[in-house]
Amino acid sequence: MLSLLIRWSALVFALSLSACNDAPRFTQAEPGEARAGGATTVNKADRNAFSLPSANLPPTRRLDFSVGNSFFRSPWVIAPSTTTARDGLGPLFNTNACQNCHIKDGRGHPPTPDALNAVSMLVRLSIPDDPAFARLIEQVGVLPEPVYGGQLQDMAVPGVPPEGRVRVDYETVPVRFKDGTLVELRKPTLQITDLGYGPMHPDTRFSARVAPAMIGLGLLEAIPEEAILANAKPAKGAQNAVAGRPNWVWDDAQQKTVLGRFGWKAGQPNLNQQNVHAFSGDMGLTTSLRPFDDCTDTQTACRQAPNGNGPDGEPEVSDNILRLVLFYTRNLAVPARRDVDSPPVLAGKNLFFQTGCQACHTPSFTTAANAAEPELANQLIRPYSDLLLHDMGEGLADHRTEFKASGRDWRTAPLWGIGLTETVSGHTQFLHDGRARNLMEAVLWHGGEAEEAKQQVLNFDAQQRAALLAFLNSL
Ligand code: HEC
Ligand code: HEC
Repeated sequence: MLSLLIRWSALVFALSLSACNDAPRFTQAEPGEARAGGATTVNKADRNAFSLPSANLPPTRRLDFSVGNSFFRSPWVIAPSTTTARDGLGPLFNTNACQNCHIKDGRGHPPTPDALNAVSMLVRLSIPDDPAFARLIEQVGVLPEPVYGGQLQDMAVPGVPPEGRVRVDYETVPVRFKDGTLVELRKPTLQITDLGYGPMHPDTRFSARVAPAMIGLGLLEAIPEEAILANAKPAKGAQNAVAGRPNWVWDDAQQKTVLGRFGWKAGQPNLNQQNVHAFSGDMGLTTSLRPFDDCTDTQTACRQAPNGNGPDGEPEVSDNILRLVLFYTRNLAVPARRDVDSPPVLAGKNLFFQTGCQACHTPSFTTAANAAEPELANQLIRPYSDLLLHDMGEGLADHRTEFKASGRDWRTAPLWGIGLTETVSGHTQFLHDGRARNLMEAVLWHGGEAEEAKQQVLNFDAQQRAALLAFLNSL
């Protein structure tokens, strides 16, 4: 143990001497570094680490969080039913509760080969843009598949055919580190079978996405727009071609185009709209912002199925429930980092900066003074994301545009809490479609603007790889 420690400290020391670029050298943790969510950070590293309210939320406001949690966790039922507050599920849907996908408020995963439905992974659909539908594309971000719409729903109420079944198969892609160590990545191919409404448009584009973790989202919403846009230029003196771009997306409430922040391609502008689209697209539940079910014109059984509206025509999800769920999704706290001061973690952090990971995975921001909730304001946060789009290369491409995001673009995934994925969600499947089976595989899928950073990782020896993983696992 002692000799290991000496080896690690020698590595940290060596790094601080070999200044090959302007990356900072860390020999100790930065002040407050462990508190990734500022004053909202919680000290929990067990199965429930992603499910706690902001640490600075006063007791009087914790009740709203708990009630919001119950609407996120508990299943919705098919209408008509005796529980009018929770009915209206479907006609088409993916599952009956938010929590079934955002497992333990953490991330979802792709389906196993024998799974009956995909549950925590959904498949977005669209066809190539057509100028005749410019207004629709401006407001929806894509041209939806004409019969199936913008998302495949693999479940339905009795009497309505589900849209189809999703199956993921994998082929092996070998990658070798410079020292000869072999990694076999798995590349997914998607198959949609049992189509309920006939063949799809021949040019249909598919984008498989697993549910992301729910932590720190209110803080991301509170980052000032200028701070995000300030990073949206090629990095100064960039040796590489890292150039983050904002997604500009439709705001349903304001009826105008604004900055996108949420979803794997930053296709949603704020948490309320993201939640509203989840209620509608994932569970078939109407809200005042989206008072219609997700049925296309040709899906007649879907159009005619009974709804769960209130007696006064109130939507299936009332504004009050929507407000409580919004409060909940804003206040799921980021857990504190572990081992920020340990030599391997510091060595890994130095490698993270030297290889240029931070050009996209922006270490920190300060949230706005006028954040939507006072607890979220003026916090120094460490999400490790710029919330911008980057071309990640052909390997990760879904070939499906979404507003300004191209078929190769993805939003830099925030890395906070990522080291607790296995503890919370019981698996380590990363990236938008869960193809990576561990953190190193996630890094090795990086291409496009991140190709150069990936190449440097491929040159790492075993000890450097262990250090990078120690850092990522401490997040
Ligand atoms: C069928 C699985 C599924 C269900 C059910 C589901 N989600 Fe999601 N959720 C996802 C996926 C997949 C994404 C990423 C979407 C994208 O990239 O377009 C997501 C993204 C989100 C995000 C944005 C997270 C981020 O990091 O950008 C929020 C907030 C969210 N969901 C809230 C909800 C709420 C609230 C509910 C219940 C009303 C819900 N979700 C139900 C799968 C699901
Ligand atoms: C050019 C921008 C860019 C650079 C440079 C970059 N990343 Fe990423 N990273 C992304 C994007 C975008 C994603 C999401 C990709 C996806 O899901 O398809 C991502 C995803 C990840 C993930 C998986 C996150 C999750 O939630 O599944 C990890 C881990 C990660 N990056 C680590 C690194 C490390 C380590 C480096 C440096 C060696 C690095 N990244 C360099 C943009 C970048």
